[in-house]
Amino acid sequence: DWDASGIIEDQVAKIRAQVGDAEVICGLSGGVDSAVAATLVHKAIGDQLTCVFVDHGMLRKGEADQVKHDFVEATGIRMITVDASEDFLAALKGVTEPERKRKIIGEKFIRTFEKAQRQVLEEAGARGKEVKFLVQGTLYPDVVESGGGDGAANIKSHHNVGGLPDDVKFELIEPLRTLFKDEVRAIGTQLGLPESMVWRQPFPGPGLGIRIVGEITKERLDLLRDADAIAREEMSRAGLDREIWQCPVVLLANVHSVGVQGDERTYGSPIVLRPITSEDAMTADWYRLPYDVLATISTRITNECPSINRVVLDCTSKPPATIEWE
Ligand code: XMP
Repeated sequence: DWDASGIIEDQVAKIRAQVGDAEVICGLSGGVDSAVAATLVHKAIGDQLTCVFVDHGMLRKGEADQVKHDFVEATGIRMITVDASEDFLAALKGVTEPERKRKIIGEKFIRTFEKAQRQVLEEAGARGKEVKFLVQGTLYPDVVESGGGDGAANIKSHHNVGGLPDDVKFELIEPLRTLFKDEVRAIGTQLGLPESMVWRQPFPGPGLGIRIVGEITKERLDLLRDADAIAREEMSRAGLDREIWQCPVVLLANVHSVGVQGDERTYGSPIVLRPITSEDAMTADWYRLPYDVLATISTRITNECPSINRVVLDCTSKPPATIEWE
């Protein structure tokens, strides 16, 4: 019998024994894995844990606030937030090629995390403590996918949180290493995390940056955030959150389509809806969103996002298409 409280108690005891009176650092991404891992560690060792949240400015509407406020309120975890959106935007100026976007975002993320990490080390030093451990939200499927073995080598290359700087070596704490996603969700619920966090659908590390086809700008991010929030709201309202595995909403910023909005002829960009079902993201089918839901999303997006004059549905499975457009 699978028992969430039992696993929590075991992990708490294990973490306490491993950590002793040292200090621990953990990067938060906004996703369920890092949030549950951090909460477990916090339950074990309280204020010996400091979390770092790098806000790269490419999360969806409300997600940064959820980490900065709701998560901290629910857990009482000590957290350092770095608002680095301006920095990321500057580094991405003029960049349109998807792999370059990923590389820039990934590198910038690690450099930003390192800076925050130095601050955590200094503050611990001032308390006469040493930071010896790094928490990672590695799940069992991640371990299997990267061929077993130990530690840092198992970090999926496209997981953008927790890059290890060269000059500091931490021991890893991986409390979710034997668990599957549904078990992690059960533990998160048991630990009292907000439901929106526990049930968050998979979201890529580079965030909305790879859902803007074309250059990433502040205006385009805000526009996509609005369109995405409408789509998510309507899918939730229709009770589809747990039916749909993931639904990228994509802004084709370098495509222009003609529209007529009010009395005006407009020349704006289309929004793509990409609802999918999947087991493991390796293959996927497109989810048959009900016409009524599609109609509401389309009407709302074109009404509420002034420069969008067209909403289209991506009805391609994977393969041949990938889940993300970039
Ligand atoms: P694709 O587009 O390759 O996506 O079919 C498969 C799954 O991976 C996610 N994805 C990413 N996750 N960094 C991430 O952390 C990335 O660069 C990245 N690219 C794709 C995607 O959202 C889907 O769940």
